[in-house]
Amino acid sequence: MPTYRPDLASIPRYIPGKPIEEVARELGIESIDKLASNECPTEPFPEVIEAIAAAGATVNRYPDSGQYELTKEIASHHGVDPSSVWVGAGSSDILRCAALSVGGPGTSAVFSHPSFVMYRIATLVAHAEPIAVPLDDHFGHDLDAMLGAIRDDTTILYVCNPNNPTGGIRSGADVREFVDAVDDRITVIIDEAYSEYVTDPDHESMLTRAPTYPNVLVARTFSKIYGLAGLRVGYGIGHPDLIGELRTTQPPFAVTAPGQAAAIEALKHQDQVTERSMLNAEGRVLLLKGLGDRGYRVAASEANFVYFVPEDDASGLFDGLLREGVIIRVLGEGVRVTVGTESENRHFLEALDTVGRV
Ligand SMILES: Cc1ncc(COP(=O)(O)O)c(C=O)c1O
Repeated sequence: MPTYRPDLASIPRYIPGKPIEEVARELGIESIDKLASNECPTEPFPEVIEAIAAAGATVNRYPDSGQYELTKEIASHHGVDPSSVWVGAGSSDILRCAALSVGGPGTSAVFSHPSFVMYRIATLVAHAEPIAVPLDDHFGHDLDAMLGAIRDDTTILYVCNPNNPTGGIRSGADVREFVDAVDDRITVIIDEAYSEYVTDPDHESMLTRAPTYPNVLVARTFSKIYGLAGLRVGYGIGHPDLIGELRTTQPPFAVTAPGQAAAIEALKHQDQVTERSMLNAEGRVLLLKGLGDRGYRVAASEANFVYFVPEDDASGLFDGLLREGVIIRVLGEGVRVTVGTESENRHFLEALDTVGRV
């Protein structure tokens, strides 16, 4: 029998949302709405699909390992220097490499709970100790408690803004004050995977400020509003020296040529990105209101998902909705539902009524 790391069993497995095909097979249902993984409910832009096809003809060669063109386009889109941009195979790749580069035995990482599960997984994979700080009573990051949780051996801290799975934001002023209060020996990751969906004017991205700090990295992704989850492209923005160190643990050729080509093309369609964000906001209002009207305790959301706490059994609700052809996600004591198309959102609310209050 092979020899494994003794701590391997204690690392939680990432459990992805159930695939549509699997549910269809198991339950014999044809029409299924997957509202479980915060994906974009519509196809990539047509020009992006063409760019992917064209790049497909080059895949006998390794891709550009430095992602020269994509890095340049991301930099120009955000008005930062290309040396501040680091591209990865999804932002999960960026988060994992950051954890590996600053972690190790005798270090710790601070993050909220519930928050994106990859922070805990990346911490444990990096042989570091996780320090999870409960969200406040309004499902928001308790930034003071997070500051208080920092130990001498803490080397990394994650703030997910908006937070997955609860959806709320901390204001730009709060995040800036927080970052300024953290000693710069600690790498601060501001995960803005859902930033493009935010409509609250209090939100402020840390993107352009990040490179002015020695220790702040903002993580973004093409998996959400750009609709490229299946291609795995994300990026980090921070000081060039920080990026230079953090990317040491990244394998070469992390991002495929079709992935790079798709992301370059996707960035050109900002008008459609805005349109998607507006449509998402309408769907979000429908779901928040629908859940509130049905008496559920719902978290305020600025993202492409909503989070609520059923009175009793979250997994019973999950099973009931599954039988109605709707896949959601149980996370912590609550459930998270991705904003889908208008018909998917209505289907979810109807299914909820069929299943009844749980
Ligand atoms: C908060 C957050 N960060 C990062 C990611 C990772 O996205 P990807 O690796 O697809 O870029 C996700 C995906 O669900 C997320 O919810």
